[in-house]
Amino acid sequence: MSYYSQDLVEEIRSRSDIVDVISGYLKLQKKGSNYVGVCPFHNDKNPSMSVNQPRQMYYCFSCGAGGDVFKFVMDYENLTFPEAMKVLADRAGIKLPEQDMSRETKQQTDLKAQILELNKLAAKYYYYMLRQPPGKQGMDYLTGRGLSEETIQKFGLGYASKYSNDLYKYLKGKGYSDQLLKESGLMQVDEKRGMYDKFWNRVMFPIMDANHRVIGFGGRVMGDGKPKYLNSPETKVFDKSRNLYGLNLARISRKPNIILCEGYMDVIALHQAGFNQATASLGTAFTQQQSMILKRYTNEVLLTYDSDEAGVRAAMRAIPILKDAGLTAKVINMEPYKDPDELIKAKGAEEFQKRIDEAETSFFFELRVLERQYNLREPESKTAFFREVSKKLLEFEAGIERSNYIEAAAERYHLTYDQLLKMVNQTGQKLGGMTRAQVPTEPLSRRRKKAEDSGLRTQRLLITWMSSDERLFRNIIRYVEPEEFTDPLCRRVVELLLEQYAAGHLNPASLFQYFTEEEEQQKVTAMFHDTIPKLSGKEEEEKALQETILKVKQNSITWQTEHMDPGDVDTLRKIVQKRREIEKLHISLD
Ligand code: UTP
Ligand code: MN
Repeated sequence: MSYYSQDLVEEIRSRSDIVDVISGYLKLQKKGSNYVGVCPFHNDKNPSMSVNQPRQMYYCFSCGAGGDVFKFVMDYENLTFPEAMKVLADRAGIKLPEQDMSRETKQQTDLKAQILELNKLAAKYYYYMLRQPPGKQGMDYLTGRGLSEETIQKFGLGYASKYSNDLYKYLKGKGYSDQLLKESGLMQVDEKRGMYDKFWNRVMFPIMDANHRVIGFGGRVMGDGKPKYLNSPETKVFDKSRNLYGLNLARISRKPNIILCEGYMDVIALHQAGFNQATASLGTAFTQQQSMILKRYTNEVLLTYDSDEAGVRAAMRAIPILKDAGLTAKVINMEPYKDPDELIKAKGAEEFQKRIDEAETSFFFELRVLERQYNLREPESKTAFFREVSKKLLEFEAGIERSNYIEAAAERYHLTYDQLLKMVNQTGQKLGGMTRAQVPTEPLSRRRKKAEDSGLRTQRLLITWMSSDERLFRNIIRYVEPEEFTDPLCRRVVELLLEQYAAGHLNPASLFQYFTEEEEQQKVTAMFHDTIPKLSGKEEEEKALQETILKVKQNSITWQTEHMDPGDVDTLRKIVQKRREIEKLHISLD
């Protein structure tokens, strides 16, 4: 994953002290041997992020974000690794040599950069065309929909002419290859016609990422044609499940919430009316990744999906996703209008603000939708309805929150608190009984899972110890071997640490580049940030290490026993011997 030579990466790292770099983005305070700050990767007021200077790593105890200095810059600025290298190199006054990338990785990075460059050119081109005589039709359409010149500029709206190869000719004139044009998603290819523009005779909506880079386009017919909107296909730079229309503006809106709507035009109309916290997904269903991204910027999401059946269904699907991400969801009622754009056009911004103020907590919205599926005048159906309501109430954690909602729901359906509480508890018991009946082996599997978890925790703890200083590393590695770490990720980390140690010195922060998956990187960071009990004196240290090392070894034996072939006498003999060794193990530090 490293696109540059190891030496260069390390040189830049050594000249980019993590405390200095992160301090450039947020306020850090010294606390003990660490620095702490408010984590920028989730919504928080408390200083949950700790930055460890000796290890050159950061870790958030609340959301689990963490890594080395490169990872921080990548995540904060939404950059690729080479882009983050460039930022840090510039900062340190180091010039990056071009030839340092391998050809294949260079091509990949270049491809992304080139598509972004093409998108920017195309956006500028469409923007320019909107202001040319043939673009008048587009301009008329947009102003006819009530958009001001300022709004059109702010969203960089444009026009694709009615000729289907204008952009193609323009970009070819600039020397771009057909291959690249194809990869950009701006062109379409078919056997008969060859390559031609994907978008023509449409008003154009450039789609930007959080850093204002054009990653794709939506194009709308200027009238009633079909399809109403065309969207760029997914490309190397355009991932529809991880981006939101208008997020580049909404994330800096300084509003207490983010508004989530369905369409490009809704976002634009809302921003024009002063609701600059509006975003929309990109013509696809709202995803979990999008909810995590929103969680970075807010705690509350207001849904203003279309008021038709499809919009209600989409909202019902989005609510649990938002709640899973820890967001509060409210639903704005747009009736009798179809969407925010229409409501604002008919009634103005003040009315929309009023609708925001009256927005309904997602739970009550879900109740109303549920009500429609039952006939509450009929006793049997009514009972079934309450059972459903009880199930929803069980989704809240038992305690204050659930009580509050039980109280509110009881009031709504003219029940007493106790009546509804009883129903909720009964439903809970019934559900509990059912799950037990359905999954008889659950307790056992859970027990095994717990054992695995604790094995993993011990392995991680030992790694934290090993990486904390070379003296401990040297001591510990005398007693454990990498193979005794049963968790593959832990084992790999220990192997890598061992290589570093052999080569001269430990550099835990540099291990990141060996792990390319987000999830792996997170786990690796967690390994270096376990809390080590404060130990005074050699004796205490020896005792604590003895315990941890023993656990790691025992865990490894248990694992081997469980995974060995019963007829494999050789392995069995080894296991028995190992058991004996463990019994005699005595750790002494030098
Ligand atoms: P809508 O049909 O609600 O469009 O689709 P809209 O935003 O209100 O547009 P106007 O007001 O008629 O111009 C909502 C969103 O679904 C996607 C687009 O992202 C659109 O903004 N969509 C819709 C498509 O991708 N293709 C379509 O053909 C229609
Ligand atoms: Mn609309």
